[in-house]
Amino acid sequence: MFQRTIFLVLFFLLASLITINPTHAIRSFPERVGFSISHQFSEAPEYTNGFSCPVLGGDSFPKTCDPSLVHIAMTIDSEYLRGTIAAVHSVLKHASCPENSFFHFIASDSSPVSSEDLTRVVRSTFPSLSFRVYQFKESLVRHLISSSIRQALDNPLNYARSYLADLLDSCVERVIYLDSDVIVVDDIAKLWRITLSGSRVIGAPEYCHANFTKYFSNGFWADTEMSRVFEGKSACYFNTGVMVMDLVRWREGDYTRTIESWMEIQKEKRIYELGSLPPFLLVFGGDVEPIHHRWNQHGLGGDNVVNSCRSLHPGPVSLLHWSGKGKPWSRLDLGEACLVDFLWRPYDLYRHNDHHLHHHHHQHNLQLLDVL
Ligand SMILES: *[C@@H]1O[C@H](CO)[C@@H](O)[C@H](O)[C@H]1NC(C)=O
Repeated sequence: MFQRTIFLVLFFLLASLITINPTHAIRSFPERVGFSISHQFSEAPEYTNGFSCPVLGGDSFPKTCDPSLVHIAMTIDSEYLRGTIAAVHSVLKHASCPENSFFHFIASDSSPVSSEDLTRVVRSTFPSLSFRVYQFKESLVRHLISSSIRQALDNPLNYARSYLADLLDSCVERVIYLDSDVIVVDDIAKLWRITLSGSRVIGAPEYCHANFTKYFSNGFWADTEMSRVFEGKSACYFNTGVMVMDLVRWREGDYTRTIESWMEIQKEKRIYELGSLPPFLLVFGGDVEPIHHRWNQHGLGGDNVVNSCRSLHPGPVSLLHWSGKGKPWSRLDLGEACLVDFLWRPYDLYRHNDHHLHHHHHQHNLQLLDVL
């Protein structure tokens, strides 16, 4: 009932937008990256800690080792930069202790935009943010990647999440991994504090209604040696775009190598069609801490069909995820936005030339999201 009201409001908002000719808003974003890159985004408002926040130690060296920090890892590249910036903005806006978040941005060492330039963008957009940009060596995985059903999934940077335990300082014991096409609309500390029971290494929302069989080939299921990996487990599908990872247990179990060995098997025998996800299912399927579904309202990018829009799943929402082919920033720029894309828009810090148009709707959306 509550959601139906929101959708009704959203519908009228969309209707009012359609009357505006959006052609002047169309531009190719990646082409402009590299040129005065740090001026492409507006500075975010300053978000500060509440009184009850744990005080950062000050003595910890490096600063990343402070036990009061909430660690968040994301990839950063020119293509999804606008998404990454919006996601960070959303985390800070809704965090009870925004100053206690530390962002670990993973950039490709083969990126056309240098990590210095990416650092400059983040610094100018979020002047007081605690963060570090890491260089991910694409050569680590390039030889392990076999082509998947969607070219975007073959980007080596998609595999960076398997290397966080190596990349991040060993004093970082837990990290939240987030895809660049998400918006957090709740206090990230709630996700940070979940318990990973027993010896569980990762936590993520599970989808046990999805037919797990179809994520692997018939050949895989026919091979008793391989399919034994799921023996005695009731493995469910989960999405790797939002994960809480225990890096201590990860390092102990050397799961990066296990993932790599499945990728080697894939190269030889082709046991799945998707990109970086199936190795995670193989290693952790059936042993994932099930997080509430509110933390990954996935699929908002729509099916891999042009113009397919998805609505929110029933239930509360803490994180919106535009997984799938359609991304809110490109649909908005093209004037082909889905309703859910207007929930992403208030977090967008990309500088549009037409400030009037942008700010007008910005206000409306902020109010909508506060209702949500
Ligand atoms: C699950 O998918 C497999 C392979 O596509 C199919 O053979 C099986 O019938 C499906 N099971 C259910 C319960 O739909």
